[in-house]
Amino acid sequence: MKPSEARLARVAVRAEDYPSDGRAEIALMGRSNVGKSSLLNRLATTSGLARVSKTPGRTRELHFYLVEEGHYLVDLPGFGYAKTSKQRREEWAHWITSYIDAREPLVLVLQLVDIRHEPQPIDHQLRTALAERDLPACVVLTKADKLSRGAAVGAADALRRVWRLDPSLPIIATSSETGSGIPELQKLIQQRVAAFAAAGKTR
Ligand code: GTP
Ligand code: MG
Repeated sequence: MKPSEARLARVAVRAEDYPSDGRAEIALMGRSNVGKSSLLNRLATTSGLARVSKTPGRTRELHFYLVEEGHYLVDLPGFGYAKTSKQRREEWAHWITSYIDAREPLVLVLQLVDIRHEPQPIDHQLRTALAERDLPACVVLTKADKLSRGAAVGAADALRRVWRLDPSLPIIATSSETGSGIPELQKLIQQRVAAFAAAGKTR
């Protein structure tokens, strides 16, 4: 697949500032430091595009990256970092909920979970929020380079059991360091964007 190029098209906090051109959107969600910005860089290939944080909790707005093919990758604020204030976490929860509730062009949510860690309460909360809204989602395990291939498969199976995931819901193990799993994820994104274009609607 041809590498895509992307540019930061919009930074928004309030819903009225989200893009209004109707292009399909793929959103990256997950705890702070899970690797959202790193994965976005990989997916868009322009390295250094989304700021990768040494200090978790850096991304505080929704960043809309317009990919050459004509869809947006949306880097959402990370949530649940221990050192952030309760008020800040509530703000994050509010942004995320208002985004998924009102976003017609949202064709796919990538829910990122660190492959080395058990999902935390906030991960469960997000899983429930996505399932309740029947949003098309893909669970993405990040930092797969930190585990052996066998252990990575085991982690995916464990998560499928814990969350009683529908077998049709994909789980993709990725590494933004080595690029493993990225072509598979890009293929899924292309399929969702193509279906959106063909149907003229999201879900
Ligand atoms: P917030 O913006 O704070 O919510 O964090 P984020 O989810 O965007 O995480 P980010 O991409 O900034 O990555 C956090 C840290 O994890 C950085 O030090 C990255 O270099 C590291 N990291 C991200 N992805 C990978 C990966 O696939 N493998 C390894 N080994 N490290 C990774
Ligand atoms: Mg980030």
